[in-house]
Amino acid sequence: MPAEFFDPISDHKTPPTYFFFDGTSWKGSESGKTVPVVSPIDGSPVGNLPVVTTNEIDQVMASATAAQPAWEATALNKRVSVIHLAADWIRQYQEYLTNLMVREIGKSAEEAKSEIVRTADLIDYFADEAEALRGETIDSDNFPGYEKGKIAIVERVAHGVVLAIAPFNYPVNLSASKIAPALLMGNSVVVKPPTMGGISGLHLVRIFEKAGVPPGVITAVTGTGDVIGDYLVRHPKISMVAFTGSSDTGLAIAGKSPMKPLLFECGGNNPVVVMPDADIALASREIIKGAFAYSGQRCTGIKYVLTTPAIREQLLSQIVKLMPEMVKAGDPRSPDTKMVGPVISEQAAVHVEEVIQESVKNGATVVMGGKREKAMIEPTILTGVIPTMPVIAKETFGPVVSFVDVQSFDEAVTIINQSSYGLQASVFTKDEGTGIVFGSKLHVGSVQINGSPQRGPDHFPFLGVKHSGVGVQGVRYSLEAMSRIRPIVLNKPQ
Ligand code: G3P
Repeated sequence: MPAEFFDPISDHKTPPTYFFFDGTSWKGSESGKTVPVVSPIDGSPVGNLPVVTTNEIDQVMASATAAQPAWEATALNKRVSVIHLAADWIRQYQEYLTNLMVREIGKSAEEAKSEIVRTADLIDYFADEAEALRGETIDSDNFPGYEKGKIAIVERVAHGVVLAIAPFNYPVNLSASKIAPALLMGNSVVVKPPTMGGISGLHLVRIFEKAGVPPGVITAVTGTGDVIGDYLVRHPKISMVAFTGSSDTGLAIAGKSPMKPLLFECGGNNPVVVMPDADIALASREIIKGAFAYSGQRCTGIKYVLTTPAIREQLLSQIVKLMPEMVKAGDPRSPDTKMVGPVISEQAAVHVEEVIQESVKNGATVVMGGKREKAMIEPTILTGVIPTMPVIAKETFGPVVSFVDVQSFDEAVTIINQSSYGLQASVFTKDEGTGIVFGSKLHVGSVQINGSPQRGPDHFPFLGVKHSGVGVQGVRYSLEAMSRIRPIVLNKPQ
């Protein structure tokens, strides 16, 4: 039992009230207000999070700003050691963190464990890659009209204070994917965990603190976005915002953070195109995995399939056969549950149900699922969907996949490119050349050929275009995004 390790972060009542971290101490808010975190599995209380005040945010920002220069001045190899130790602690507390996450956000035990293990590996990889980053020097005489009189010494330096806002679906991994590169590049980090998933997020912050991140360099503030969000993102001491979440929230934050570097990954609404020569069995398995893993609550989840009516029928007959073996909906604490447990809250499930019903009213057909019980949505397949129907006009964060019939694959390109989203798309074809040519026509961040959309492996570049994001993540890309170059130009008398 990791009592001592995580002891200071809550009051240990039942349910516990957790504290925010001002950079030195874990404490309750002077507001006296808290927000409850409720398990999506059974509605039981997991704990409460403090709603911090603007005054507390100011104090946190002041500490983060004051602590940053000394942290940036610390030898990189020392910062790297701290970050590796955080990865070790995550492994040490893997089981505890897994159980917490299952209860807090309703991931299956397998999915939660994989998030924890992946996070430790990611942090280690970040630390190794940070040591490999190099600056450069540039001579002046490469440019027409210049002699050898100047040399630019180009170093990477920190932005300052990074605000890291993580979503509920990967509360540990998508916090660490911001915290680790920000710290390695010499920034201080103010972490704003999600509300659901916030307890797991605070545990992660505690791990970085215990690993040796100095006072003020990492802090964590909690409270609902509608209460503290505006004040945080507009705060003048924030130098950069790193955010993962919905496109609507991303757009709102971007509008409030002018002239600041942004690293955003937002909604996906990812399409799959299945060509006539595709391996139908492979495409069917990937569609099931892509649509239903973590109950469809992944930015990289598959949301719709574009293909001809003939291929759609072949896919559906395979998918219906494969579903019982691949998907077992149920309580995520049970080792039998595969992929589909509850969505994050009953309110979220009601929304998904409404969107399904509205699309059916507009002409879509439910081939499978479609029903809700509390926070559980049955794995759902719809056909006859058109792009203006609510189920795909906006990203539906639930276990729902829609089939959209096209008469030609040019029509599929038009539909994908007209979408306001652009995270990933998948193309299934046995002819890889055709896949590459087709993929290069799509206005999305990345194209997968013969595989479902996904972020990993985590050192691959990961980005969204249009309303799906700004900036590029992936290990080296995140380190670059979390720093800026500083050229110093030496003018040499000739
Ligand atoms: O934000 C990315 C997340 O929603 C999906 O990540 O690893 O499931 O593809 P992953």
